[in-house]
Amino acid sequence: MCGIIGITKGSGPDDGVQSVLDVLVEGLARLEYRGYDSAGLAMVGPTAADGMWRVRAANGTRSLDDLTKRTDDAPTHPSAGIGHTRWATHGRPNEDNAHPHADCTGRLALVHNGIIENHIELSDELIADGHHLESETDTEVLAHLIEAHLAAAPAEGVVGAVRSALSRVRGAFALAVVHADDPDAIVAARRVSPLIMGVNEGAAFLASDIPAILGLTHDFFILDDDRIAELRPGAISVTDLEGNPVEPEPLHVDWDLDAARKDGYDDFMSKEVHEQPKAVADTLLDRVLPDGTLVLDEVHITNEEFRSITKVFVVACGSSYHAGLMAKYAIEHWARLPVEIDIASEFRYRNPVVDEQTLIIGVSQSGETVDTFQAIREAKSLGAKVLVISNVVDSSMAREADAVLYTRAGPEIGVASTKTHLAQITALEILALYLAQARGTLSPADARGLLTAMGSLPDKVETAVSRSVDVHAVAEHYKDSPSFIFLGRHVGYPVALEGALKLKEISYLRAEGFPAGELKHGPIALVEPGTVVVGVATRTPVWEKMIANIAEVKSRGASIVLVANDGDEETARHADHVLWVPATEHLFAPIIDVVPLQLFAYSLARLHGLDVDRPRNLAKTVTVE
Ligand code: AGP
Repeated sequence: MCGIIGITKGSGPDDGVQSVLDVLVEGLARLEYRGYDSAGLAMVGPTAADGMWRVRAANGTRSLDDLTKRTDDAPTHPSAGIGHTRWATHGRPNEDNAHPHADCTGRLALVHNGIIENHIELSDELIADGHHLESETDTEVLAHLIEAHLAAAPAEGVVGAVRSALSRVRGAFALAVVHADDPDAIVAARRVSPLIMGVNEGAAFLASDIPAILGLTHDFFILDDDRIAELRPGAISVTDLEGNPVEPEPLHVDWDLDAARKDGYDDFMSKEVHEQPKAVADTLLDRVLPDGTLVLDEVHITNEEFRSITKVFVVACGSSYHAGLMAKYAIEHWARLPVEIDIASEFRYRNPVVDEQTLIIGVSQSGETVDTFQAIREAKSLGAKVLVISNVVDSSMAREADAVLYTRAGPEIGVASTKTHLAQITALEILALYLAQARGTLSPADARGLLTAMGSLPDKVETAVSRSVDVHAVAEHYKDSPSFIFLGRHVGYPVALEGALKLKEISYLRAEGFPAGELKHGPIALVEPGTVVVGVATRTPVWEKMIANIAEVKSRGASIVLVANDGDEETARHADHVLWVPATEHLFAPIIDVVPLQLFAYSLARLHGLDVDRPRNLAKTVTVE
């Protein structure tokens, strides 16, 4: 959940390519969604006495601004540089703990995303050998460990020192190192945490994700686990931990720079909410043949293997977990397969019953959430088939899986998941229909009817998104309400959970989602005059029971906001305010019904003057357990 970036362009004349400093600052700005407790950068090369020059700032979302005010004494023509934006895990979010970290000589700098699990053991050893560590972080240990290995075998160079140092390290890392003694080089290494590289004729780049270096190159590469890369101007060489050369894996990227920018919207979240119709359409694209059958060419599990599956587990976190909950209804209903759904961080520690007939579905837009990544690894080690739903091509989870079904939502920068969440539900519904097709539990005629209904979803999502002004008017009535209860039944229950999560994470208001039928078993004690209850009351087989639950809370003085199907006045008369949505097949309804709840949360957060793209305490991708 930190972001790293690096560029080397050597000491040649400025050829019009952006300066090292500009690339680092722009890249850090695009990586801030991964964490912004602090920012820092280091450069090496011509002038600034040809040493390693470093600057750091720890001031929350102001960190990068503060950093750019402290570059007056920076090298004028640096050869290479690295940068870091931090989400604190070990050590307080202060300047001493900010990356880059240096070694004792002050000529080596290192940035890192991940966690070094044996950092205490290593720091004790280094301190005993005379090293002086200045921070509370796990990362600083790496800088001194590399320093020690470089001193022990200078002929091996920095890349050799990194390689031998990492043989002592347990944990996750995506790291980059510069050294004033070799100013044209950046040495990078990766285990679990994401790292992307790029190269053009005069430079080479690395970053935690693609948008950070979009526009600088068209040639991207992935650094795989336990690989070390040496980047020099115009060249990248990769070796394994034993020093054997390895061809870096090319990565096709069709995201343009604009896709990673705001396109005129006030913030990434509103841009991404408005991109939802396209995200759903693109995720459906070319997966439905003219005769209505489904073809998923990225899923390398045969129909025969699908037919041998006797149980499905879905593992995920946050909004991806809520998408997974919706998949449970769809897969059980159409494919008649039992589905268990687990919070990923719980799954691997409960000794789950998994075997070769189990299908594990890992849902993760980033494909890097370590809780989910480790859960699918655990399941794979127990013999399960692993299918991952991810939004990032060749993400860590995608490469771990037996099969991948990509969502096609494009880069999602806002911390709150919106378009990737809708794309995940769409992908999971497609998968449920595909499983039913493979297992023969759904007739081709019924499948065609459902696929026709899916084809209309993008337009219906567009309609729901277009009502943002109406939703904002409803939100204004409740801008002073301190707490909210979200209710839903059947597929409306995960929608209620997602609506509550959206409100919590961007407005910091108290919000809790419940199955509506569960209220009378305790939570109804929360209801008093003025309590705001938001109910998902679109037409499902359990609509009448949902309305009965709404009547229970209305009789206790709650203010009622209902998500209801267009024209459904019977539902509307139970509400103080209605969030109208188009109707659809009830198992597809979550894709549409969640949209007004996203907009409701967005409006309340903006009414409270909050930064919806960078909510406090959160980061877009959580790569620590
Ligand atoms: C949702 O708005 C949050 N961003 C968070 O709950 C997120 O869904 C969760 O961390 C999972 O992320 P992933 O999809 O990248 O695995």
